[in-house]
Amino acid sequence: MLSGQEATTVLDHQTMVMEQLVSDAPLACVLDSIVIALEELMPGTRCSVLLLDDDGVLRHGSAPHLPAAYSMAIDGLAPGPLAGSCGTAVHLGEPVVAGDVMVDERWESFRPLARTHDIGACWSSPIKAHARTVGTFAVYRREPHEPDERERELVRRFTHLASIAVDHDRAAQERVAHHQADLARESAERANHAKSQFVTSLSHELRTPLQSITGFAESLSTLELSPEQRHKALDGITRASAHILSIVDDVLDLARVEAGAMPIDLAVIDAHQVVAGACDLLQPLADERGIELVRSGTSVPVTADRRRLRQVILNLVSNALRFSGSGTSIRIETTTNNGLAKVTVSDEGPGIAPELLERLFVPFDRLGAEAGREGGAGLGLVLARRLTEAMGGCLTLDSTVGVGTTATVALAHAPDDHDK
Ligand SMILES: Nc1ncnc2c1ncn2[C@@H]1O[C@H](COP(=O)(O)OP(=O)(O)OP(=O)(O)O)[C@@H](O)[C@H]1O
Ligand SMILES: [Mg+2]
Repeated sequence: MLSGQEATTVLDHQTMVMEQLVSDAPLACVLDSIVIALEELMPGTRCSVLLLDDDGVLRHGSAPHLPAAYSMAIDGLAPGPLAGSCGTAVHLGEPVVAGDVMVDERWESFRPLARTHDIGACWSSPIKAHARTVGTFAVYRREPHEPDERERELVRRFTHLASIAVDHDRAAQERVAHHQADLARESAERANHAKSQFVTSLSHELRTPLQSITGFAESLSTLELSPEQRHKALDGITRASAHILSIVDDVLDLARVEAGAMPIDLAVIDAHQVVAGACDLLQPLADERGIELVRSGTSVPVTADRRRLRQVILNLVSNALRFSGSGTSIRIETTTNNGLAKVTVSDEGPGIAPELLERLFVPFDRLGAEAGREGGAGLGLVLARRLTEAMGGCLTLDSTVGVGTTATVALAHAPDDHDK
């Protein structure tokens, strides 16, 4: 039996361990506290906890005062009828007292280890959680020893405490695993939903030009048309086909880049030169719309794929041209700062309302622009962002209604060596 004073000390230790459990302290710390508390209550002992792993072998749990070489030597011990005190206790599911390890048959193959590490007696009790053995609690002494009633009572209490700690830890691990499984399921469901949404939008986008091709083809075959009407119908078919082709190209690019299958040929190139090429290509359209393209900045070496960077910049400048009014300017600037090279495309267009910004990169979402006269599928920005990311950069958009929109492509600056 424990004395009144001892019972109070045990209670204090139990309270401390419970507090650790409530504050979700790591299992190794809680087990260390339990082991050290018992060593204090039983002077001359060194205690340890071994835990059964999923492969059914015993692994180090806590042994703050046993030699590390001893702990390492028994790490991975398989339970069995002659596996020292701990392995045998787990095998039998009941305490094993080896009062003198030098004569105990269960210690026969461990005697050299016991001699090296000054072990005379070892008493091990299984730790059980939900009627299953999950590890052992061992008490070592340097000289032969048989536990008395008081020691048995102390070990019983602390083994129980260790079982609560292990149980608490397993429950926490299960909670984390459940939570992760829930997150994975939710994300799979979201991805699935996004895919269905994408397919629905894609069919819808393709239907409009296909219907116009069918309509023009029908009128060409059934009606007497003037050469002018015939020309208009053929022109309509050509434009609708080009629109379908560009949607299909963008969808394929998007699928490729999302699957990580887009070949990206990274090299050190001059971003300013790529900007110049894209602007030259769009200059006739800018002239037609009465919009000025203003370039600034000098040569900026970046690590990127020339063709894909050009595709990104064409996309951004096309958007600026598409949504800005005549008489406005579009500024395209190349700058460097803190190891980053930036290409910014700023327009003086209508801007985008803050509540619409998060839909900018949603495929086929045109934020209502489909009601306007400007064509487009709503794939340009999402593709431009994915391509930029595939080159290790990032694409962001800032916009203020009534002031304009600025798109920024940030890429790794490669200052040393570049081709021109
Ligand atoms: N510079 C801009 N100013 C105002 N609105 C813009 C600007 N850039 C994009 N947007 C808005 O974001 C939407 C999505 O742009 P995105 O480039 O993805 O598609 P799109 O230009 O409509 O079609 P696509 O690029 O596939 O031909 C546009 O429809 C438009 O509503
Ligand atoms: Mg676009």
